[in-house]
Amino acid sequence: MHILLMGPPGAGKGTQAASLVKEFQIPHISTGDMFRAAVKEGTELGKQAKACMDAGKLVPDEVTIGIVRERLAKDDCKKGFILDGFPRTVEQADALGKILSDLGLSLTRVLSISVPAADLVERAVGRRICKTCGATYHVKFNPPKADGICDECGGELYQRADDSEETMTNRIAVYERQTKPLIEYYQKAGIYSEVDGRQPIDKVTKDLVKVLKG
Ligand code: AP5
Ligand code: MG
Repeated sequence: MHILLMGPPGAGKGTQAASLVKEFQIPHISTGDMFRAAVKEGTELGKQAKACMDAGKLVPDEVTIGIVRERLAKDDCKKGFILDGFPRTVEQADALGKILSDLGLSLTRVLSISVPAADLVERAVGRRICKTCGATYHVKFNPPKADGICDECGGELYQRADDSEETMTNRIAVYERQTKPLIEYYQKAGIYSEVDGRQPIDKVTKDLVKVLKG
Protein backbone atom coordinates (compact mmCIF):
# COMPACT_ATOMS: atom_id res chain seq x y z
CA MET A 1 0.00 0.00 0.00
CA HIS A 2 1.83 3.12 -1.26
CA ILE A 3 -0.41 6.00 -0.28
CA LEU A 4 -0.25 9.73 -0.82
CA LEU A 5 -2.31 11.94 1.52
CA MET A 6 -3.15 15.36 0.11
CA GLY A 7 -5.13 18.29 1.37
CA PRO A 8 -4.75 21.93 2.37
CA PRO A 9 -2.90 22.97 5.55
CA GLY A 10 -4.88 21.86 8.60
CA ALA A 11 -7.10 19.44 6.63
CA GLY A 12 -6.18 16.52 8.90
CA LYS A 13 -3.38 14.74 6.99
CA GLY A 14 -1.21 14.13 10.06
CA THR A 15 -4.21 13.13 12.20
CA GLN A 16 -5.41 10.60 9.62
CA ALA A 17 -1.91 9.32 8.86
CA ALA A 18 -1.56 8.29 12.53
CA SER A 19 -4.69 6.08 12.20
CA LEU A 20 -3.63 4.66 8.83
CA VAL A 21 -0.23 3.69 10.31
CA LYS A 22 -2.09 1.58 12.90
CA GLU A 23 -4.43 0.09 10.27
CA PHE A 24 -1.82 -0.83 7.66
CA GLN A 25 1.45 -1.01 9.68
CA ILE A 26 3.43 1.10 7.21
CA PRO A 27 5.60 4.17 7.88
CA HIS A 28 4.29 7.76 7.86
CA ILE A 29 6.54 10.10 5.89
CA SER A 30 5.78 13.78 6.45
CA THR A 31 8.14 16.32 4.89
CA GLY A 32 6.81 18.93 7.35
CA ASP A 33 7.78 16.66 10.30
CA MET A 34 11.20 16.03 8.72
CA PHE A 35 11.82 19.77 8.36
CA ARG A 36 10.67 20.44 11.94
CA ALA A 37 13.07 17.74 13.20
CA ALA A 38 15.90 19.42 11.27
CA VAL A 39 14.98 22.82 12.76
CA LYS A 40 15.10 21.26 16.26
CA GLU A 41 18.52 19.73 15.55
CA GLY A 42 19.79 23.07 14.22
CA THR A 43 21.22 21.56 11.01
CA GLU A 44 21.90 23.54 7.80
CA LEU A 45 18.73 22.02 6.31
CA GLY A 46 16.84 23.14 9.42
CA LYS A 47 18.05 26.73 9.08
CA GLN A 48 17.02 26.87 5.42
CA ALA A 49 13.65 25.22 6.08
CA LYS A 50 12.81 27.44 9.09
CA ALA A 51 12.93 30.66 7.07
CA CYS A 52 10.50 29.21 4.50
CA MET A 53 8.17 27.59 7.05
CA ASP A 54 7.92 30.72 9.20
CA ALA A 55 6.86 32.67 6.12
CA GLY A 56 4.39 29.97 5.05
CA LYS A 57 6.32 29.41 1.82
CA LEU A 58 7.53 26.14 0.33
CA VAL A 59 11.06 24.90 0.94
CA PRO A 60 12.84 24.81 -2.48
CA ASP A 61 12.01 21.73 -4.60
CA GLU A 62 15.60 20.51 -4.95
CA VAL A 63 16.06 20.37 -1.16
CA THR A 64 12.71 18.69 -0.54
CA ILE A 65 13.05 16.15 -3.34
CA GLY A 66 16.51 15.17 -2.03
CA ILE A 67 15.30 14.31 1.48
CA VAL A 68 12.33 12.33 0.15
CA ARG A 69 14.53 10.38 -2.26
CA GLU A 70 16.76 9.34 0.67
CA ARG A 71 13.83 8.41 2.89
CA LEU A 72 12.00 6.33 0.27
CA ALA A 73 15.14 4.31 -0.44
CA LYS A 74 15.04 2.89 3.12
CA ASP A 75 13.99 -0.74 3.51
CA ASP A 76 10.86 -0.05 5.57
CA CYS A 77 9.22 1.65 2.53
CA LYS A 78 9.25 -1.51 0.42
CA LYS A 79 6.06 -2.86 2.02
CA GLY A 80 4.39 0.54 1.77
CA PHE A 81 4.26 4.10 3.06
CA ILE A 82 1.97 7.04 3.72
CA LEU A 83 3.36 10.20 2.16
CA ASP A 84 1.98 13.35 3.83
CA GLY A 85 2.68 16.82 2.46
CA PHE A 86 4.78 15.66 -0.48
CA PRO A 87 4.52 16.27 -3.40
CA ARG A 88 3.34 19.89 -3.26
CA THR A 89 4.34 21.07 -6.72
CA VAL A 90 4.15 19.55 -10.19
CA GLU A 91 7.96 19.38 -10.21
CA GLN A 92 7.89 17.36 -6.96
CA ALA A 93 5.20 15.06 -8.39
CA ASP A 94 7.30 14.40 -11.50
CA ALA A 95 10.33 13.72 -9.28
CA LEU A 96 8.30 11.32 -7.10
CA GLY A 97 7.23 9.38 -10.19
CA LYS A 98 10.88 9.00 -11.19
CA ILE A 99 12.05 8.04 -7.66
CA LEU A 100 9.34 5.36 -7.39
CA SER A 101 9.95 3.93 -10.84
CA ASP A 102 13.70 3.70 -10.05
CA LEU A 103 12.74 1.72 -6.93
CA GLY A 104 10.31 -0.47 -8.89
CA LEU A 105 7.35 0.96 -6.95
CA SER A 106 4.21 2.90 -7.83
CA LEU A 107 1.50 4.80 -5.96
CA THR A 108 -1.53 2.72 -4.99
CA ARG A 109 -3.81 5.71 -4.38
CA VAL A 110 -3.81 9.46 -3.86
CA LEU A 111 -6.30 10.47 -1.16
CA SER A 112 -7.27 14.08 -0.74
CA ILE A 113 -8.94 15.31 2.45
CA SER A 114 -11.14 18.20 1.38
CA VAL A 115 -11.94 20.99 3.84
CA PRO A 116 -13.19 24.47 2.90
CA ALA A 117 -10.66 27.29 3.36
CA ALA A 118 -12.96 28.99 5.89
CA ASP A 119 -12.43 26.10 8.41
CA LEU A 120 -8.66 25.76 8.06
CA VAL A 121 -7.43 28.72 10.12
CA GLU A 122 -9.46 27.64 13.18
CA ARG A 123 -8.08 24.11 12.86
CA ALA A 124 -4.47 25.28 12.74
CA VAL A 125 -4.70 27.98 15.40
CA GLY A 126 -6.31 25.51 17.85
CA ARG A 127 -3.86 22.68 17.11
CA ARG A 128 -1.65 21.39 19.91
CA ILE A 129 1.10 18.79 19.46
CA CYS A 130 2.92 16.59 21.97
CA LYS A 131 6.61 17.52 22.37
CA THR A 132 7.46 13.90 23.20
CA CYS A 133 5.44 11.63 20.88
CA GLY A 134 4.03 14.05 18.28
CA ALA A 135 0.35 13.20 18.89
CA THR A 136 -1.97 15.91 17.54
CA TYR A 137 -4.87 17.53 19.43
CA HIS A 138 -7.23 20.45 18.96
CA VAL A 139 -8.38 22.66 21.83
CA LYS A 140 -12.00 22.45 20.61
CA PHE A 141 -12.35 19.54 18.16
CA ASN A 142 -10.08 16.96 19.81
CA PRO A 143 -9.03 18.19 23.26
CA PRO A 144 -6.69 16.21 25.52
CA LYS A 145 -8.19 14.88 28.78
CA ALA A 146 -5.98 17.22 30.85
CA ASP A 147 -5.19 20.69 29.57
CA GLY A 148 -1.76 20.91 27.89
CA ILE A 149 -0.86 17.24 28.54
CA CYS A 150 -0.72 14.37 26.04
CA ASP A 151 -3.21 11.52 26.66
CA GLU A 152 -0.84 8.99 25.08
CA CYS A 153 2.43 9.67 26.92
CA GLY A 154 1.92 12.50 29.43
CA GLY A 155 4.18 14.80 27.38
CA GLU A 156 3.81 18.57 27.24
CA LEU A 157 1.74 20.03 24.37
CA TYR A 158 3.01 22.93 22.23
CA GLN A 159 1.82 25.11 19.36
CA ARG A 160 3.61 25.07 15.99
CA ALA A 161 5.46 28.29 15.09
CA ASP A 162 3.62 28.50 11.75
CA ASP A 163 0.12 28.06 13.21
CA SER A 164 -0.68 31.77 13.43
CA GLU A 165 -3.60 33.27 11.53
CA GLU A 166 -1.24 35.34 9.36
CA THR A 167 1.05 32.46 8.33
CA MET A 168 -1.96 30.22 7.70
CA THR A 169 -3.35 32.74 5.22
CA ASN A 170 -0.07 32.48 3.26
CA ARG A 171 0.01 28.68 3.53
CA ILE A 172 -3.54 28.39 2.18
CA ALA A 173 -2.68 30.73 -0.74
CA VAL A 174 0.45 28.67 -1.51
CA TYR A 175 -1.66 25.49 -1.48
CA GLU A 176 -4.22 26.99 -3.88
CA ARG A 177 -1.53 28.20 -6.28
CA GLN A 178 1.13 25.49 -6.19
CA THR A 179 -0.40 22.27 -4.83
CA LYS A 180 -4.03 22.23 -6.04
CA PRO A 181 -2.96 21.56 -9.67
CA LEU A 182 -1.87 18.11 -8.44
CA ILE A 183 -5.53 17.13 -8.10
CA GLU A 184 -5.88 17.16 -11.89
CA TYR A 185 -2.40 15.61 -12.23
CA TYR A 186 -3.47 12.51 -10.23
CA GLN A 187 -7.03 12.48 -11.61
CA LYS A 188 -5.49 12.05 -15.05
CA ALA A 189 -3.38 9.19 -13.66
CA GLY A 190 -6.65 7.53 -12.51
CA ILE A 191 -5.54 7.08 -8.88
CA TYR A 192 -7.19 10.09 -7.21
CA SER A 193 -9.96 9.92 -4.59
CA GLU A 194 -11.42 12.60 -2.36
CA VAL A 195 -12.85 12.27 1.14
CA ASP A 196 -14.98 14.85 2.97
CA GLY A 197 -12.73 16.20 5.73
CA ARG A 198 -15.48 18.24 7.43
CA GLN A 199 -16.77 15.11 9.16
CA PRO A 200 -15.67 13.96 12.64
CA ILE A 201 -12.12 12.55 12.74
CA ASP A 202 -13.25 8.89 13.11
CA LYS A 203 -15.66 9.15 10.18
CA VAL A 204 -12.94 10.59 7.93
CA THR A 205 -10.71 7.63 8.90
CA LYS A 206 -13.53 5.17 8.05
CA ASP A 207 -14.01 6.79 4.63
CA LEU A 208 -10.27 6.69 3.88
CA VAL A 209 -9.97 3.03 4.88
CA LYS A 210 -13.04 2.20 2.78
CA VAL A 211 -11.45 3.74 -0.33
CA LEU A 212 -8.16 1.93 0.33
CA LYS A 213 -9.77 -1.46 0.93
CA GLY A 214 -12.49 -1.05 -1.68
P1 AP5 B 1 3.27 20.52 6.89
O1 AP5 B 1 3.76 20.17 8.22
O2 AP5 B 1 3.08 19.47 5.88
O3 AP5 B 1 1.96 21.37 7.07
P2 AP5 B 1 0.62 21.51 6.19
O4 AP5 B 1 0.56 20.85 4.89
O5 AP5 B 1 0.41 22.97 6.18
O6 AP5 B 1 -0.39 20.70 6.97
P3 AP5 B 1 -0.58 20.66 8.50
O7 AP5 B 1 0.42 19.77 9.14
O8 AP5 B 1 -0.70 22.07 9.01
O9 AP5 B 1 -2.05 20.06 8.60
P4 AP5 B 1 -2.55 18.56 8.56
O10 AP5 B 1 -3.33 18.38 7.31
O11 AP5 B 1 -1.48 17.60 8.88
O12 AP5 B 1 -3.61 18.63 9.76
P5 AP5 B 1 -3.62 17.96 11.23
O13 AP5 B 1 -3.90 16.52 11.12
O14 AP5 B 1 -2.45 18.38 12.03
O15 AP5 B 1 4.25 21.64 6.23
C1 AP5 B 1 4.70 22.73 6.99
C2 AP5 B 1 5.67 23.57 6.17
O16 AP5 B 1 6.82 22.77 5.81
C3 AP5 B 1 5.14 24.10 4.83
O17 AP5 B 1 4.42 25.30 4.98
C4 AP5 B 1 6.44 24.27 4.04
O18 AP5 B 1 7.12 25.44 4.45
C5 AP5 B 1 7.27 23.06 4.50
N1 AP5 B 1 7.04 21.87 3.64
C6 AP5 B 1 6.48 20.69 4.00
N2 AP5 B 1 6.41 19.84 2.97
C7 AP5 B 1 6.94 20.51 1.90
C8 AP5 B 1 7.12 20.17 0.53
N3 AP5 B 1 6.73 18.98 0.04
N4 AP5 B 1 7.68 21.10 -0.27
C9 AP5 B 1 8.09 22.29 0.20
N5 AP5 B 1 7.91 22.68 1.49
C10 AP5 B 1 7.34 21.79 2.33
O19 AP5 B 1 -4.95 18.67 11.81
C11 AP5 B 1 -5.01 20.05 12.03
C12 AP5 B 1 -5.86 20.36 13.26
O20 AP5 B 1 -7.21 20.02 12.98
C13 AP5 B 1 -5.48 19.52 14.49
O21 AP5 B 1 -5.61 20.30 15.63
C14 AP5 B 1 -6.49 18.36 14.48
O22 AP5 B 1 -6.75 17.88 15.78
C15 AP5 B 1 -7.71 19.03 13.87
N6 AP5 B 1 -8.51 18.10 13.07
C16 AP5 B 1 -8.05 17.09 12.25
N7 AP5 B 1 -9.08 16.46 11.64
C17 AP5 B 1 -10.21 17.09 12.08
C18 AP5 B 1 -11.62 16.88 11.82
N8 AP5 B 1 -12.05 15.91 11.00
N9 AP5 B 1 -12.49 17.71 12.45
C19 AP5 B 1 -12.07 18.70 13.30
N10 AP5 B 1 -10.77 18.93 13.59
C20 AP5 B 1 -9.85 18.12 12.98
MG1 MG C 1 0.59 17.76 9.23
